[in-house]
Amino acid sequence: MVDPNGWDRNVAAPTGPPHSPPDAFVSQANVSDADVYADFEDTWPECWERAADLLEWDEHYDNVLETEDAPFYRWFSGGRLNASYNCLDRHVESGRKNHAAIRWEGKHGETRTYTYRDLYVEVNECAAALRSLGVEEDDVVTIYLPMIPELPIAMLACARIGAPHSVVFAGLSADALSTRMDAASSEYLLTCDGYYRRGDAFNQKSKADNAVIGLAQDVETVVVDRLGEDLPHVLGENERDYHDLLEEFYGETVDPVSRDADDMLFVMYTSGTTGEPKGVVHATGGYLTNVAWTSHAVLDIKPEDTYWCAADIGWITGHSYIVYGPLALGTTTVLYEGSPDYPDRDRLWEIVDRNAVDVFYTAPTAIRAFMKWGEEYPNRHDLSSLRLLGSVGEPISPRPWEWYHEHVGGGSCPIVDTWWQTETGGIAVSTLPGVDEMKPGAAGPSLPGIDARVVDAGGDPVEPGQAGYLTLAQPWPGMVKTLYEGHEQFVDEYWRRFSDPEADEWVYFSGDAARVDEDGYLTVLGRVDDVINLSGHRLSTMEIEGAIADTEGVAEAAVVGRTTDSTRTEIYAYVSTERRVDDEAAVRARIESSIESAIGQIALPEEVVFTPELPKTRSGKILRRLLEDVANGEELGDTSALRNPEIVGEIQSASRE
Ligand code: PRX
Repeated sequence: MVDPNGWDRNVAAPTGPPHSPPDAFVSQANVSDADVYADFEDTWPECWERAADLLEWDEHYDNVLETEDAPFYRWFSGGRLNASYNCLDRHVESGRKNHAAIRWEGKHGETRTYTYRDLYVEVNECAAALRSLGVEEDDVVTIYLPMIPELPIAMLACARIGAPHSVVFAGLSADALSTRMDAASSEYLLTCDGYYRRGDAFNQKSKADNAVIGLAQDVETVVVDRLGEDLPHVLGENERDYHDLLEEFYGETVDPVSRDADDMLFVMYTSGTTGEPKGVVHATGGYLTNVAWTSHAVLDIKPEDTYWCAADIGWITGHSYIVYGPLALGTTTVLYEGSPDYPDRDRLWEIVDRNAVDVFYTAPTAIRAFMKWGEEYPNRHDLSSLRLLGSVGEPISPRPWEWYHEHVGGGSCPIVDTWWQTETGGIAVSTLPGVDEMKPGAAGPSLPGIDARVVDAGGDPVEPGQAGYLTLAQPWPGMVKTLYEGHEQFVDEYWRRFSDPEADEWVYFSGDAARVDEDGYLTVLGRVDDVINLSGHRLSTMEIEGAIADTEGVAEAAVVGRTTDSTRTEIYAYVSTERRVDDEAAVRARIESSIESAIGQIALPEEVVFTPELPKTRSGKILRRLLEDVANGEELGDTSALRNPEIVGEIQSASRE
């Protein structure tokens, strides 16, 4: 693991001049009393009852937090609830049935609106349909769908019958889907014929077919017909058409299954430090409480808002802040199928304008692209409905922050730079927009009830201005419950590094480095483990290396991240081949196709550098840190401890070519 203080390229620029939240925002904010921090601290963990009160519980919990089996904490033990009931039924019952729940914006300008009642009806039919296929409580249902309404509908249908979902990002490959279905022993799959990528019809069903072929278990598949005649498909054995199947359950309702607060709501596979993705398990009560609370306190969502998180539901951001958080609060959530620049670069602003979006949440990678395209695109539209902006997934440096503030927010919307992870379930570090000053380039302090600490290698807090490891020193309701069939790995990955089990002191390690200032504001610097954050996509270097090593003719590979400008990361692959290659382009093409089939297009390297050997220590370990320095054009330290120091110069000149 890296020492964050020696890690110059990632020590971000100083934060920009602070901004205070405008009075007009503060006066209407869901949370505007600065005492919330002290209240939470003084009454922890009972403070979290305030968050749990945002939900309706079938049975009230006995204890807010049980710590006996730490780090396997139990939040709201004894409580019972259903997530789909909380996202649907209670809004329908409270007279808001005709309020828009989802506004879907399709690729080609199609739109669909689902009121809470519409959504309730279809979720119920889908739940009945799933049951008819044999899905029982606790069976894992895999969902491999693009950003169409059937995706959140399927998730809520699973939640209704107590079947945990495992959503796999639609852009991942057949192999990646197969690995995830295998790991979760999942016997049910919801997918579609295909979807439009930019203008073209893209076949999803053939990927799903290839994934299922390799599985030991039999799989029941339901196929949503997204493309109609643009992509005719044939249904095989054990395959049903989604709409035909739902028709059989027209108007049927299914009682929501009352789940123990600790029961699994879903599993989400994400990249870790090993070659295999980890199944991050979230429990129903704590997770839903956490996302409802942060949607309320940080994203300031009100039921009458139109709210848009422009992420993909295939990742955690979409789970928490397109589906569960906003729907639990009864707001209107926008679901966007397309890309930001199709058919033109003002597509997002056109959607904000037409839907009068109040709160908009996106990633720095998108903001940097908007900035590059120029302000003329947001300027074409009326964005005055916007009240709050959010950023998530990567550090946002002061320049794009200011651009976003000025050209999208019209200088009057606060920005929340929200740090969190698949494992935290919800936002953990951010300013409260109705309370705190914003410092561009720093995410902010820990949220009330969360104790984020930046520590040195010995676990002691670092001085302000210093960088260290980002840890969470006390549990929080949205926390990862365990890893699917990986309890030991759960303890090893997150808790071993900074905890003292003998003293029963448990500290969660995020895998990130951060710097803290004198006001407790954190600037997150990036990963210190073998995870690359590529424009908000989390990838494991070992997974990519594995895919490259599977390519014919390749002897060894090392993958590192290169930081291009202040924060953007791209993948550099250093590859040694079995024999001298004459046609590097052909090998590169083979490498790319291997990565595409093992993981997906998102993991393709920016650069493949061929080298006769990789730099190694005397004991034969590949020195990835050195390659990272080479990729980043940095001064190299003493290389004399290498077994093959002569290779370094060669790699440097090959990298520069
Ligand atoms: O490195 C941090 C970065 O994204 C990682 C988590 O990735 P994932 O689990 O895919 O979840 C992404 C969406 C929550 C973190 O370990 N990250 C996330 N938010 C920020 C961030 N880095 C800096 N600033 C942020 N606001």
